[in-house]
Amino acid sequence: IRVAILFGGKSAEHDVSLMSARNVDRAIDREKYYVVLIGITRQGKWLLIDGEFPQSVPDNGTLISLLPGGKGRAIVLPPSGPAYEIAPVDVLMPVLHGQFGEDGSVQGLAEVADIAYVGCGIFGSAAAMDKHQAKSLFAQAGLPVARGLTVSRHEPVDVEAIALDLGLPLFVKPVRQGSSVGVSKARTTAELRSAIDDALKYDSRVLIEEFIEAREIELGVLEEEYGRLRVSVPGEIAPAAAHGFYSYEAKYIDADGAALFVPAHLDEGTTMDLQEMAKRAFTTLGCEGMARVDFFLRPDGRIVINEINTIPGFTDISMYPKVFAESGIPYPELIDRLIRHALK
Ligand code: DAL
Ligand code: MG
Repeated sequence: IRVAILFGGKSAEHDVSLMSARNVDRAIDREKYYVVLIGITRQGKWLLIDGEFPQSVPDNGTLISLLPGGKGRAIVLPPSGPAYEIAPVDVLMPVLHGQFGEDGSVQGLAEVADIAYVGCGIFGSAAAMDKHQAKSLFAQAGLPVARGLTVSRHEPVDVEAIALDLGLPLFVKPVRQGSSVGVSKARTTAELRSAIDDALKYDSRVLIEEFIEAREIELGVLEEEYGRLRVSVPGEIAPAAAHGFYSYEAKYIDADGAALFVPAHLDEGTTMDLQEMAKRAFTTLGCEGMARVDFFLRPDGRIVINEINTIPGFTDISMYPKVFAESGIPYPELIDRLIRHALK
């Protein structure tokens, strides 16, 4: 079975994708699967990568393209010499985070190319990527969400009124981003103003939410058969106090940026509630294959759903593979199950 791993990409999470994909490449069972590496440049070019998993995606090289309706047929265009076709790819594994990969766009491309792919379909991917739409759908499904509002680049924003309504500090997030890129915590209205400006560099809409003083709990969901979901044990992230929240730096730059506890120490009732909510969140957004669902757990026991990631990180510090390893599915087995599900 020929699996194409897609990595890199145009999003701000290009580097995170490389870290994730390197681990996936290492964990994949070579006796079962032949791996075709496709690196996507920051400009969005798809390159066929020869040999070992690369340190970075080069700017130029051998281009590769899937044929519409081609069932995995792919044309390769070297920098010099004629184009040629490689043996068809059976399944795509997008290990891309953020826009142009986790948001339904690559999933749409795979649909058009008529090739199986790992993870959520177009709608689930797009719904989960858009934090504003995801929150509306969660709220409609009766899942508890943080108080907040969404503002757009094209409307005036009254920071005083927002602070009065929601209180301070506040969380400010680009609507469609991952890995906390462009996210900040604002303690004053002046900080709120600059946090909004900063987040607007990453998206035309920005989510402003109450700051929730709580434990951060994450669960993995794996769809084993159509509609049959397996939910992992919960894991907990405790960002180092110096970071204030689980920021990009706390995740990927500072080696001591956060402590992870897998499983999280929670009572059985809370664990069951979280698992039930994780399933409900997954089906509410129409997710498929896999997702990681992130929650806040307040000191009084109340749960708030934060978001769903449809291509969760597979980096060394990432929770999704860790919570499944703890739930009895080691990394290589997890990748195997994801691929087999895609091929069903
Ligand atoms: N967006 C990052 C990769 C995550 O959710 O793990
Ligand atoms: Mg995310």
